[in-house]
Amino acid sequence: MTYLLSKENFAKMAEFIYRKSGIFLEEDKHYEKLAKYIDKRSDFLGLDSFRKYFFKLRFDDKDGTEFQELMNAITVNETYFFREKDQFEVLVNKIMPELHKMMPLSRPLRILSAPCSTGEEPYSIVLHLVEEGRIIEMRDIEVVGIDIDSTVIQKARQGKFTERSVHAIPKDILARWFKKKTLSYDLSEELNGAVDFQVANVFDKNQMRKLGKFDVIFSRNMLIYFDDASRKEVAMTFYDMLNPGGYVLLGHAEYMSRIVSVFKAKKIENTLIYQK
Ligand SMILES: C[S@@+](CC[C@H](N)C(=O)[O-])C[C@H]1O[C@@H](n2cnc3c(N)ncnc32)[C@H](O)[C@@H]1O
Repeated sequence: MTYLLSKENFAKMAEFIYRKSGIFLEEDKHYEKLAKYIDKRSDFLGLDSFRKYFFKLRFDDKDGTEFQELMNAITVNETYFFREKDQFEVLVNKIMPELHKMMPLSRPLRILSAPCSTGEEPYSIVLHLVEEGRIIEMRDIEVVGIDIDSTVIQKARQGKFTERSVHAIPKDILARWFKKKTLSYDLSEELNGAVDFQVANVFDKNQMRKLGKFDVIFSRNMLIYFDDASRKEVAMTFYDMLNPGGYVLLGHAEYMSRIVSVFKAKKIENTLIYQK
């Protein structure tokens, strides 16, 4: 099978994607997927060479559609409710009570899920907050979810989830907060809309600044797709976005100490959290 994307041009595409999104593609793992995508997309656009497609992507994409389509095609969006559950327990049992005491009641506590994929992570945060019940009764808490992929953000806003996505939620919690439909589990009206979802790229300084400051940032299972330099850049962006005393939580296979040394690591039972 010959594709418009040659192996030589794979390096050019990979470099472009890396520079714009931090996502690091390797020829042996990703060539075929990217080549198939470029063939399909070029066909749709009526372009008959990689050169024309690459020109459009770089120089004729004023509204960002081509870049968005490319991101939607290459990202890995695997997620489910209550994934790496210990961290949500540490959030409601340790982090939130500490922040509640420390931060003036007059302002909301703000939690960011970056990246949030189809919404299971920020809604797991909301479910833990409402199930725990105390702090959410005493003060405002805002939960924001961002992802570079616009299709996952659209899905997240619908609040409809698959059987696979809800499999790890305990039955009583599932029954309280979801309605089982023929094809989906729908978040209850009280909770649907409790997360502010936005399309944003963690490397876009402008977009990140507009989100404002946070007290907690969940960033799980994204840094694994980046190289060391990109991880460092994102970790420093999160540092700047956190209020003093705020926390970052990473995925189980990700360690802040290997990325930057500006955070103070704390171990709570088996969970590592990082404080500014
Ligand atoms: C595997 S999912 C992780 C979702 C969730 N945090 C979890 O752990 O279940 C990784 C997500 O990172 C997003 N992503 C990749 N690069 C990104 C970037 N530069 N900015 C924002 N999101 C990005 C992808 O679109 C994808 O939805």
